[in-house]
Amino acid sequence: MTRASAPAVPPLPVAPPDVDLSVELGRGLVLPNPIVVASGTFGYGVEYGDVVDVDRLGAICCKGTTLKPRIGNPTPRVTETPGGMLNSIGLQNPGVDAVIEKYAETWTGWKVPVLVNVAGESVSDYVEVARRLDGVPGVAGIELNISCPNVGRGGLQFAIDASAAGEVTAAVRRATDLPLLVKLSPNVADVRPIAKAIQEAGADALTAINTLSGIAVSPSRERPLLGNVFGGLSGPAIKPVALRIVYEVAQAVKIPIVAIGGVTELADVLDYLAVGAVAVQVGTAIFADPTLPIRLVDQLAEECGRRGLDSYRPLIGTALPRKQAPSSAKGAEYRP
Ligand SMILES: Cc1cc2nc3c(=O)[nH]c(=O)nc-3n(C[C@H](O)[C@H](O)[C@H](O)COP(=O)(O)O)c2cc1C
Repeated sequence: MTRASAPAVPPLPVAPPDVDLSVELGRGLVLPNPIVVASGTFGYGVEYGDVVDVDRLGAICCKGTTLKPRIGNPTPRVTETPGGMLNSIGLQNPGVDAVIEKYAETWTGWKVPVLVNVAGESVSDYVEVARRLDGVPGVAGIELNISCPNVGRGGLQFAIDASAAGEVTAAVRRATDLPLLVKLSPNVADVRPIAKAIQEAGADALTAINTLSGIAVSPSRERPLLGNVFGGLSGPAIKPVALRIVYEVAQAVKIPIVAIGGVTELADVLDYLAVGAVAVQVGTAIFADPTLPIRLVDQLAEECGRRGLDSYRPLIGTALPRKQAPSSAKGAEYRP
């Protein structure tokens, strides 16, 4: 075959270099772009090293990490649902010390910031994990998963109670100087007081949302399907709920919000930016296509280029209600 007849290889899409996709989440944590991989769906990053150029991601939220190793919940642990999946992995992980020993050195060699997702059953659990992560090279920040039962309060989740959410955030804040993100649960009537309590307690940013609580029934109809009975619903089915929560929280707090829930294409990213998120996480969709997050980075840059923007920031908050201008004192004077 001559060179001239060789099939044309389409060039790999490359982000236009003149579009600024960087975003600061507080305390000096700057992501090179706003596309992050969600906790529990990208392992510790190393698992995808052969398939994905991790350094092109905005950040990696690693698997939920606890003080002691956890074997996780009984099987079955996952099932498909319309537009999503239910999982009850139960925070299977080797414990914080093993995570640091096994992965931190690899993370130091990466440009991509790695945020360690931290879970626990008591405030002191969270504090101890944060303390051990503090100052570890390769750890760029902490994402607190507070959707865990608080043993000290009879199993009540930290995430569904403003004072418990504030208490655990404040305690972790005192324990570490690392950038601190706190992940909101959708399983509440009104998330705004909880988001405000977390902000008051010193979090640098919020991530929203974790999975919605659900169950499935076994084919025999004799018992619930999942070994743990309850699972977390994720995927496109939860996007409208996550959009509503980001929309509400963006109007209630000043700290940055990273949106999560059912992202499968650029339109989802643009929707979340429009309701006030500064970045998004991709979760369940990674199982079908681990390269999706990097395509989204390129597509976001291309979209900015198409709109003549040199930064994606003008896309943030465009669907939020316009702020009312304060009424003019002069106008009041002249009112009949
Ligand atoms: C299999 C699986 C494991 C998860 N593990 C965690 C976890 O350890 N910690 C956490 O904060 N969120 C965890 N999540 C929740 C995701 O990070 C994300 O918040 C949720 O799935 C919604 O995003 P998605 O619809 O894009 O998947 C997990 C989700 C899935 C599907």
